[in-house]
Amino acid sequence: MAAYDYAVDFRQRTRALDATATAGDLRRTFCLPTPERGLDGAAVIGELISAAEPGLVATTNPNFFAWVMGGSDTTGVAADWLTSIWGQNAGIFQTSPAAAIAEEAVSDWILDLLDLPRNSSVGLVTGATMAGFVGLAAARGEVLARAGHDIAQQGLQAAPLIHIFLGEDAHATNFAALRYLGFGEANFIRIPSDDQGLMQTDRLYDAMAARRGPKIVIATAGHINSGGFDDFVALGQLCRAHDAWLHVDGAFGLWARVLPEKAHLTKALDQADSWSVDGHKWLQIPYDSGFSIVRHETAHRRAMDITADYLNRAPGDGRNPTEFNPELSRRARGFAAWAVIRSLGREGVIETVRRHCHCAAELQNRLAAVPTVAIRNRVDLNQVVLRVDECDHATCMLADRLNAEFSTFVRTTVWHGETVLRISAIEKDTDLTTIAHLADNIQHLAGERTSALGQCRIAPPQR
Ligand SMILES: Cc1ncc(COP(=O)(O)O)c(C=O)c1O
Repeated sequence: MAAYDYAVDFRQRTRALDATATAGDLRRTFCLPTPERGLDGAAVIGELISAAEPGLVATTNPNFFAWVMGGSDTTGVAADWLTSIWGQNAGIFQTSPAAAIAEEAVSDWILDLLDLPRNSSVGLVTGATMAGFVGLAAARGEVLARAGHDIAQQGLQAAPLIHIFLGEDAHATNFAALRYLGFGEANFIRIPSDDQGLMQTDRLYDAMAARRGPKIVIATAGHINSGGFDDFVALGQLCRAHDAWLHVDGAFGLWARVLPEKAHLTKALDQADSWSVDGHKWLQIPYDSGFSIVRHETAHRRAMDITADYLNRAPGDGRNPTEFNPELSRRARGFAAWAVIRSLGREGVIETVRRHCHCAAELQNRLAAVPTVAIRNRVDLNQVVLRVDECDHATCMLADRLNAEFSTFVRTTVWHGETVLRISAIEKDTDLTTIAHLADNIQHLAGERTSALGQCRIAPPQR
């Protein structure tokens, strides 16, 4: 009850958007000597709240624009609590039939919502990083099998060289997933990207033509900065011509599939072989939630299967979730995903994605009137990348002052060698009102003149 009361209050209360405690402060409260004696549960929860709250970031606040992250929908949180109360292990069907069948349901819904091939297999994983890992593991086994190499029998060491093509500006987690799978720099062919961070298709064409042997191409649907999409029509044709596996990193951008007005961005995206997408970003499913979608179920199972007699399914059983995941014992992720999708419905998913795209477009429109602000991306989705006064320092100052003075949480990043402010409209309650305030505040600060010397005119925040 104490946790419930606190939870309700926490979600309603106005609090700082960024953590107020330093790492040192948090260590002082968390890093106690190893407890020799246990403590009453209610007291522990009280201690946990006091220790954690100063170090929490307001991911659930509509003015949170700093990273591309969702804000844990409350229906999903309720289902997540039940998941822990039920204490299920969703490794195999028999350890939790309900969890397994919830995952079957969610898989079908995901394929239907995203309009991807309905007989694809879906693994409920921790996020897009692991979804990429699973999809690329399936890719690795399949392109090697087509080259006559059985990875399960022969492993990777004697395998033919696999050429892996991905944009030089691809999300860092793709490179990480490839490393987990035994690949390194010598296997990557980094394709130069355009000013939106997307692969230059003609360069990919040349790079693929110059190489023989098994090939995997990793494309982006929703670039981490620009929100842009690779050209899937061209990529699909190229991959078919080379018998290459096409994997799509669509951590948030894949959800553009639900909007008919964005069909030009996602055209032919369904021709790919595997897709990774998050649940905990645009869908606001509580962390962690991601989906690894693979067109070829056999390749998916080949990559992830864990076999032991005691794990076998009996006739009539539902799926063993572990056949599609890199884990055996695991959280019953299907319950929260099921609850969020059930509560949003297709209409709710469409409304959320559309609203955030409108927010980004509106911000772009409003800032077009501010001469000191330059928008650095093509605003097709929910992302706006901007820079002030063509100056790294001024852009940092803008971010600092937005955070310090206007109950906003933004962050800068470096893109193409420049400091930029990347605004991501993705938190569940962010709407046009929130965006109007943000636009007003940027306009106000970017119009401020504190120096007659031209550049870097935004003064630092008063601390
Ligand atoms: C394009 C893209 N791919 C992959 C990821 C990694 O996703 P996750 O943090 O859910 O593992 C992100 C995260 O922002 C992303 O934007």
